[in-house]
Amino acid sequence: MPPAPPTPHAPPPPDAPESDVPSAAHPRSKARHDAQDAFFGYYPGPVAVVTARHGDAVNVMSAGWHAALSAAPPLYGVAIAPERHTHALVAAAGAFAVHFLPIERADAVQGAGVLSGADVPDKLAALNLAWREGDHGLPILEDAYLAYACTVRERHPAGDHDWFVGDVTGVYADADAYPDRLLDAAVASPAIYYGRSRYEGLGHGPVRTFDVDALRALGRGATDDEGGAA
Ligand SMILES: Cc1cc2nc3c(=O)[nH]c(=O)nc-3n(C[C@H](O)[C@H](O)[C@H](O)COP(=O)(O)O)c2cc1C
Repeated sequence: MPPAPPTPHAPPPPDAPESDVPSAAHPRSKARHDAQDAFFGYYPGPVAVVTARHGDAVNVMSAGWHAALSAAPPLYGVAIAPERHTHALVAAAGAFAVHFLPIERADAVQGAGVLSGADVPDKLAALNLAWREGDHGLPILEDAYLAYACTVRERHPAGDHDWFVGDVTGVYADADAYPDRLLDAAVASPAIYYGRSRYEGLGHGPVRTFDVDALRALGRGATDDEGGAA
């Protein structure tokens, strides 16, 4: 049976002036590839920088595969392959910290993802990553605009990686970068990974903010005028 034709884009909701709405005039043609050959390597995304410590041994690695998992309790997950030096430290200590670095430190994001602590005794120093001790003695990177300190709650083998689920015990957020908890990309432009060792700073594209009440009203139909808090 031939594959179903792609669903056309829905028109953008009436939440912003016409001039602010990016054009969706061109439906994107997509070739299908077999996932076995084509899954790996599609981006962009922010790459997390994970630190771990067991006794005097500290290390850092990059992880593109990570996610917030739960708000209450606060949980964060990260995929770490068993062969990573960091894996042994996280497993032994039962703790890890997840960081996000600005584009100015993309060199460290890339370096933490290429060098191994198995070969480089002090990878943090080699990458010029200054740190302070945080929750559970974990290294909290000075250059990060955001960090979560976590204790390991669960570990799930998932294919060629282990998925570590962490209870977030501490949040370290740069107050200048997050006035009122909304990231100011002019203060900290996240390093976004595009693949093939290429990074771009976030915050230069069109900005769209949404009126949540208007969207909820759209879901209820135009005649329903009940209000709702955002
Ligand atoms: C952009 C990027 C993303 C990566 N994402 C992951 C990941 O999600 N999980 C993982 O286990 N390794 C990932 N890696 C590979 C490790 O960071 C890399 O093997 C690193 O050298 C491991 O360091 P370690 O041996 O000191 O722990 C990534 C590397 C790069 C460059």
